[in-house]
Amino acid sequence: MDPIQEIKNRLDIVELVSETVNLRKSGRSYTGFCPFHSNTRTPSFVVFPETQTWRCFGACAEGGDIFSYFMKRDGVEFREALVQLAARAGVQLEEPDPQKIARKNAQDHLVELLEAAAGYFHQLFLHAPQAQFAREYIDKRGFTAETIDTFRIGFALNSWNAARDHFLGQGYSEEDLIKVGLLTVNEEKGTRYDRFRNRLMIPIRDMQGRVVGFGARTLDPDGIPKYLNSPQNELFDKSNLLFGLDMARRHIREARQAVIVEGYMDVIMAWQAGFRNMVAQMGTALTPTQLNLLKRVTKRFVIALDADAAGVNATLRSLDVARKTLDREEELRFDPTGLIKEEGRLQADMRIVSMPPGEDPDSLIRQDPALFARRIEGAKPVVEYVIDVLSQETDLNDPKNKTQLAEKVIPLIRDVASPVEREHFWQLLARTLRVDDRALKQLYVPGERRPVVGERRSTKSSPPPKPTPQNRARSRGDGVKKIEENFLRECLIDPLLIRRINRMLSQEGQSIIHAEDFSSAVDRTLFVVLNQQQSLGVVASIEEIWDSLDALMQQRVQQLMQLSSTKQAEREKLPERLVHSVLDWRLRKANQLNDELKLLIREAKQEADVELVRNYTQQHAELTRQIYQVNRAKAAIKGISRRRS
Ligand code: CTP
Ligand code: MN
Repeated sequence: MDPIQEIKNRLDIVELVSETVNLRKSGRSYTGFCPFHSNTRTPSFVVFPETQTWRCFGACAEGGDIFSYFMKRDGVEFREALVQLAARAGVQLEEPDPQKIARKNAQDHLVELLEAAAGYFHQLFLHAPQAQFAREYIDKRGFTAETIDTFRIGFALNSWNAARDHFLGQGYSEEDLIKVGLLTVNEEKGTRYDRFRNRLMIPIRDMQGRVVGFGARTLDPDGIPKYLNSPQNELFDKSNLLFGLDMARRHIREARQAVIVEGYMDVIMAWQAGFRNMVAQMGTALTPTQLNLLKRVTKRFVIALDADAAGVNATLRSLDVARKTLDREEELRFDPTGLIKEEGRLQADMRIVSMPPGEDPDSLIRQDPALFARRIEGAKPVVEYVIDVLSQETDLNDPKNKTQLAEKVIPLIRDVASPVEREHFWQLLARTLRVDDRALKQLYVPGERRPVVGERRSTKSSPPPKPTPQNRARSRGDGVKKIEENFLRECLIDPLLIRRINRMLSQEGQSIIHAEDFSSAVDRTLFVVLNQQQSLGVVASIEEIWDSLDALMQQRVQQLMQLSSTKQAEREKLPERLVHSVLDWRLRKANQLNDELKLLIREAKQEADVELVRNYTQQHAELTRQIYQVNRAKAAIKGISRRRS
């Protein structure tokens, strides 16, 4: 039998989950607090013994089988989970073929060599008289003995053959040394010499904690390159590695957030200062593979860019170029388009922050760790960050500049995967530019690669859009707004209300509550987040969503919470009252729209626009039908509550 199936047959997911989660039997399944997100109010984590699966109905919105659970719990790859679960189940994994074993052994041999090399350089750093200036350098940079030990910081002697001779003496071959990049071959002269000379050695480990290469910093202020890294080889592939991940993994999970910085020294200094959920991307642009490594552990990333503001802004100024050269990663330090796409692909929450001018995380932390912490907290979604940076360097009183800014940002907004966030960014851009968001949306033609903005519109003479009944109706209705607010407020306090109300609505043949039931964009967004997985009927509590709300929405929540609350005595009647008000406001909106439509029909008739008349009349009829149904539902609900009391 397939070993995976065999393992599933032999192990019980309930048992495995129970090792770390307190499960309670409820009906045919077991529930508990989800181990993958922090929440102590709603036990949203369910294990189904019959199907041997699990699912978090809360913030994670994830599920799977015993393998995915184990991978997530221990932060391991599938292969590792397979090996470990097989051992538990007593399942013999297929005999690995001899070739594979040989390859594995050869690799182990090289890793062993690299481990030995890390130890060798470390000892030199600690004790060699020639390393005195390196020790002074590290001391001056403020690294402690403990940090030196934790990261096994090393030193390579200023010699062409010291490392070679040392390891040949240990029984390794020159071929081994070449393979791991400790020896460099000069093809022309046929000579082989130590690659790392007179440099500070920083061992680089992979996710499993195996040393796979080195970053070697020159100690000469004019030395070039500043960092000499191991050459690309079987074990060392910069684009697949994140410096510090092996140690940071645990802390990333605890902090539920990974901070990605640019350099080795940043990670090391941050670690020393207690910021331990950090990894470094080692001078290359962030790759999808690197993000894949991280996404198992968290889906919240903060990318901390160095001050290097010129670089950032220059990249922003040439977003189009950036888009065209996406494949040339080396030179691209900040690529908003790429990041937004990755964010969508991973369903992640990606935020950007840059360091103050002239600083990097290392220097900022040395100044004051609190400064760094505050920066990280202020990280912004990619689009917001771009809007911020651009608007800070632009005079927005000049309408031409507004157009230019919009042209740069709109393509980014279009790439945002989540419709809710997309809407949010439209509004943000509109606010920043002090223009109407509807006007802004008209500035780009959907499907076209470049937005059509400002001046160019005159050449393209598109007719101004006809007023739709919707945007006319939007200007009215303060009373509706009150009902909405009250409604949202109650749902924030008791999210299960939404489900009860939806049930009542469906029973009366009405559609369940949807985002369009709210007139303000912020409220629509808030509702969608609250009602995260409508198809599953899952509703999150305010604590669960709080972190995912941006400042604007958090503000709105606070505002709503300050509204006067429903008295305890009236709580019982709340669902019915709310259903009633939902229906009331649907009715009001529909009636309002219908009034507008009547007007529009009259206008269209005057203009003898047959097509439009037909269109509006159809809408009118449909609305009238809806109004009738809403009224019927209202009467039915009233009947129910009367019968009850
Ligand atoms: N880097 C590299 N090769 C270079 C320069 C930089 O690989 N020639 C990578 C290194 O991983 C380095 C990161 O890019 O850590 C960031 O570069 P930089 O900001 O210049 O280095 P710092 O980490 O700040 O190093 P230091 O503080 O020691 O100057
Ligand atoms: Mn630095």
